[in-house]
Amino acid sequence: MRALSRSLKTLLSRDALQAGLARLGLGLGRSFRCLGDARECGSMPSLGLRGDCRPGRVYLVGAGSGDVELLTLKAARLLQQADAIVYDRLIGDEVLSLIPPGRERYYVGKARGHHSVPQAEIGELMVRLAGQGKSVVRLKGGDPGIFGRMGEELAALAEAGVPAEIVPGITAASAAAAGMGIPLTDRGHAQQVRFITAQLCREGGEPDWFDLARRDETLVLYMGLSKVEAICSGLRHGGLPDDWPIMLVANASHDDQQSLTGTLADMPARLAAQPLPSPCLIVVGSVVSMVVASPARPVSMEERT
Ligand SMILES: C[S@@+](CC[C@H](N)C(=O)[O-])C[C@H]1O[C@@H](n2cnc3c(N)ncnc32)[C@H](O)[C@@H]1O
Repeated sequence: MRALSRSLKTLLSRDALQAGLARLGLGLGRSFRCLGDARECGSMPSLGLRGDCRPGRVYLVGAGSGDVELLTLKAARLLQQADAIVYDRLIGDEVLSLIPPGRERYYVGKARGHHSVPQAEIGELMVRLAGQGKSVVRLKGGDPGIFGRMGEELAALAEAGVPAEIVPGITAASAAAAGMGIPLTDRGHAQQVRFITAQLCREGGEPDWFDLARRDETLVLYMGLSKVEAICSGLRHGGLPDDWPIMLVANASHDDQQSLTGTLADMPARLAAQPLPSPCLIVVGSVVSMVVASPARPVSMEERT
């Protein structure tokens, strides 16, 4: 009986997945059509989506940076299959619309003017849901392993003996660089890239500006919109020149992506004149100078140049 209900569930979730993917313009069959093109692309190999969504297991899934098409196929499948979804702020409506009606949803992000649900409560919720025999997707913006407090959640699951699986997602750094039409590393510009949180980058804060002020790397700062002035002056103090390139990208990969490019010297004034919304990413490095000549730069910048 249990085996029958499991195979029925597999069939049903395959149907649900098919419907969700159809909304994305994808299919599970042997061929699918090119988006925006009436012609058939010919016979494509099957996407080969397989894999289960096990009861009593928590899947820590990256939702990508906002654009639903940047969601991985595995994330889309799990969203269709899971019994319960625990999700954060910064998850786009189009991504959430892949969850079939009737599934349990728990929003644990920050409400306007309120604090987020404490991390310990999120851990308890996941443990409780998995303990009820449910398959749980813990959906996080971008990649769950990049400034996503995933370590604390893994620790809570480990302590309760709940099995888990991690599904990576496209982090904001990749989305912002792509959205601006540049690489994060380029042999002529940067031999390394560093992702850092700007939480400590306030005036009188802790960062070692001399260590961060390198000319051979790209520096990507998460959570830094309110600290742009301190970051620019800190990096200049650390030794980078006044005209060193910096860009700010807000809502990367969303339809309303906005950006500013400039230098360490002029960016604070540019931002004051044209404030950007959150979430916003800061990219510092000579790769930023590639934006202006990139054929993949945003259309709004083409108009400006
Ligand atoms: C708590 S961190 C989470 C990062 C996420 N795990 C990731 O991999 O992208 C939130 C910060 O990520 C950056 N961020 C997330 N999504 C973004 C987007 N679509 N555009 C620009 N920045 C974004 C912002 O700096 C924001 O303050």
